[in-house]
Amino acid sequence: MHQEELSSIIASVKAYLDLEKESGMEEYFFGPVEGAPAMAGDAPGNLEALKKEVLGCRECDLARTRTNVVFGSGNPKARLMFIGEAPGEEEDKQGLPFVGRAGQLLTKIIEAMGLKRQDVYIANILKCRPPNNRAPLPAEIIACRENVKRQVEMISPRVICTLGKFATQTLLDTQTPISALRGNFREYNGIKVMPTFHPAYLLRNPDDKKLVWQDMKKVMKELK
Ligand code: URA
Repeated sequence: MHQEELSSIIASVKAYLDLEKESGMEEYFFGPVEGAPAMAGDAPGNLEALKKEVLGCRECDLARTRTNVVFGSGNPKARLMFIGEAPGEEEDKQGLPFVGRAGQLLTKIIEAMGLKRQDVYIANILKCRPPNNRAPLPAEIIACRENVKRQVEMISPRVICTLGKFATQTLLDTQTPISALRGNFREYNGIKVMPTFHPAYLLRNPDDKKLVWQDMKKVMKELK
């Protein structure tokens, strides 16, 4: 076994056990997720075409303050897709989703599920950073939401995990609070959607990591 592969397995087991410990859960979920996503390959043409289009988008004022458009990244054939809110400072700099502090926690959650970032697809509702990380405005969500919906259609995942209020309420077209929605599967265009808390919220409220871990276990069962 290559050193790199071994390190990745150890990181995955460590992340899993950390979350288990924090959640105080007894039930263990070992072994690969059956039918785990294929490794990342070339993005299908239509997703690449959409990316090109979105990189030039000027539909809202965020186009004037962004450094980079953050389209999304991962396996274009992923069976599991994560949708967050909007890029933050680090994401805006790098043009990649979830690469800041919240992103590191999301990576840990993904690894604890026995997956790698490149197995899943990660996107946001907004593709450009709101100044000073303020909450997305309704007009910005309206201008941008078709992009993520088209990504979902092209990737066609088996499960979507929406991270936090904005992703959940936008995709499910509801005003119900995230605290009432998390932990139970909903549906979007025939795809199972698991709403859960945003990793940035978990950084401020670490006690709720156990709830997210419970949600991720339901996702893993669904992907089996
Ligand atoms: N928060 C998000 O919602 N998305 C990111 O890409 C980073 C932080």
